[in-house]
Amino acid sequence: MILVTGGAGFIGANFVLDWLRASDEPVLNLDALTYAGNLENLATLQGDGRHVFVHGDICDRALIDRLFAEHRPRAVVHFAAESHVDRSIHGPGDFVRTNVEGTFTLLEAARGYWSTLEGEEKAVFRFLHVSTDEVYGSLGPNDPPFAETKAYEPNSPYSASKAASDHLVRAWHHTYGLPVLTTNCSNNYGPYQFPEKLIPLMIANALAGKALPVYGDGRNVRDWLYVGDHCAAIREVLARGRLGETYNVGGWNEKPNLEIVHTVCALLDELRPDPAGPHARLITYVADRPGHDRRYAIDARKIERELGWRPAETFETGIRKTIAWYLANQDWVAHVQSGSYREWVERNYGERRA
Ligand code: NAD
Ligand code: TYD
Repeated sequence: MILVTGGAGFIGANFVLDWLRASDEPVLNLDALTYAGNLENLATLQGDGRHVFVHGDICDRALIDRLFAEHRPRAVVHFAAESHVDRSIHGPGDFVRTNVEGTFTLLEAARGYWSTLEGEEKAVFRFLHVSTDEVYGSLGPNDPPFAETKAYEPNSPYSASKAASDHLVRAWHHTYGLPVLTTNCSNNYGPYQFPEKLIPLMIANALAGKALPVYGDGRNVRDWLYVGDHCAAIREVLARGRLGETYNVGGWNEKPNLEIVHTVCALLDELRPDPAGPHARLITYVADRPGHDRRYAIDARKIERELGWRPAETFETGIRKTIAWYLANQDWVAHVQSGSYREWVERNYGERRA
């Protein structure tokens, strides 16, 4: 079996669902169920013996040691993290704890377990660390996209904590020989994304007739990738990636935020027209994010050259699927918009009103 951390979150849940659609190899899913973790994402796996869920923290060494000893996973796929830049600005402590200390704890537990293995079991063991392109910092308009050789220049508490975790993973390979792989991926979108991130927030607000808050001038650029393509890339890297290597994963799809918001509005106008008028009327410029990175772009040639991976979805096909999913799953959105969600909206957007 494989051990997945953070498998009740957005990308982790998509990964677990895709994995069990394609294979019968069981998944041991360790997740602390923070505000971002949601077992509803995995509801279709209820009663499926191939999915073993453990409610626990990646900082809990005793628990992780016990899971390794009892389940003997052949690989770890490590998604668990605090993942939202705006939350990292309001409360960086949780980011250092989970992203840095949690990754350290998992690496130490994995090293302890791996050192007891022998022969084939030891040879095939893998630790795959899922990271972000944000560790590379921000690009100017004419800079080349991030290659794996780009120096790390993280600018937010989130990206700094992810950069720290990447460095730990690298060091555990070089120092202890732990068989690690790292992926650095661009912005994902798709089903089950928590509506605090740009695309699901815009869909949810537009459907509710609420303001669509665009930070700053709306010209910040992100490279968007459909989540299913990210999951496919992770499967390829896990199966055939070279040990100790990092692979950048991206959609070849750079777009300014304003264009993303207009695309969401236009698709909603088509699929769920609002009698009050075009959804774009709700676009509202609000105060910028402090330290807002201007542009991210990924050079994904290495993973294509070495592993033959390329995104299957274009932005046009992926965003249509995503909006269709949110339209069909408005109960899911309503459930995650709980009391704590409303507090977050008040905290993050209340102070941007000016
Ligand atoms: P998410 O916030 O939706 O999910 C994170 C999951 O981790 C949640 O289920 C949460 O309960 C769990 N978790 C948090 N702290 C934990 C802890 N201490 N112990 C155990 N579980 C814990 O995040 P996501 O968007 O699915 O991102 C997953 C991973 O992919 C992260 O490592 C993130 O840095 C990386 N990533 C995300 C994106 C993106 O666009 N979302 C892009 C590139 C890389
Ligand atoms: P986000 O989805 O938070 O991802 P990240 O910060 O990790 O790239 O934000 C994507 C972009 O959208 C980013 O440039 C910030 C911007 N943004 C807004 O303009 N308004 C919003 O309400 C949010 C959440 C993000």
